[in-house]
Amino acid sequence: MSAEIWSAVDSYIAGHLIGEDPALEQALRDSSAAGLPAIAVTPAQGKLLELLARVQGARTILELGTLGGYSTIWLARALPADGHLVTLEAEPRYAEVARVSIARAGFGDVVEIRVGPALETLPELAAEGAGPFDLIFIDADKGNYPGYFSWALKLSRPGTVIIGDNVVRDGAILDPDADDPSGGNETIKGVRRFYELLAEGVGGGSISATAIQTVGDKGYDGFVLALVGEK
Ligand code: SAH
Ligand code: DHB
Ligand code: MG
Repeated sequence: MSAEIWSAVDSYIAGHLIGEDPALEQALRDSSAAGLPAIAVTPAQGKLLELLARVQGARTILELGTLGGYSTIWLARALPADGHLVTLEAEPRYAEVARVSIARAGFGDVVEIRVGPALETLPELAAEGAGPFDLIFIDADKGNYPGYFSWALKLSRPGTVIIGDNVVRDGAILDPDADDPSGGNETIKGVRRFYELLAEGVGGGSISATAIQTVGDKGYDGFVLALVGEK
């Protein structure tokens, strides 16, 4: 089973279930033209994010890792007209690309981009009294997932859905000494610690969680889906 067939099946799925999507396709073209890395979620994964946010009835969403705004637009589509999405991005240049695409997609008033390292912008958000958010998508630098998860819990309520991307990495998470192709060993260490924190929550009864392995146009990876319970 090869990566080519995973990609071909992703195209088949998108052809049947997603179809043409000018705003999102333009967002990807702009990202690529501006030299941003091609590491956004796939269309099928983006649609899953939108559907999860709809099933959750989310009115407020927090995203960590905006890149060019691709996943942001998918998530924003789930929100009611008076909904709000805060997305955190460290790279000012990426945030500018995202800002244009998000506005073009019609979400300029719904989405707030906060530029800076998320471990700096998260405490600012908390100090302002932001949250609790209905859904939190963790997709920034993987080495900091443990810290991001702690902040996600602070910004959540019983019933908040937390999703964490890139938690399988070609199976490299099995090996504590593995080097992730993109982030070196810090990535794998961070993701493994994220699982340990989730496990503590699951053991203590304050979190219910699973992780699903995925294949597709972005290779072999996976995501965590967690539901926050009573703290
Ligand atoms: N969610 C996007 C992809 C995000 S890629 C999508 O699917 O469309 C990861 C992003 O996290 C990159 O844009 C990267 O610049 C950003 N990032 C890396 N370190 C960060 C940090 N410390 N704080 C906030 N964002 C960070
Ligand atoms: C990569 C993929 C991602 O989904 C992400 O958020 C960061 C990096 C990658 O494949 O390098
Ligand atoms: Mg990701």
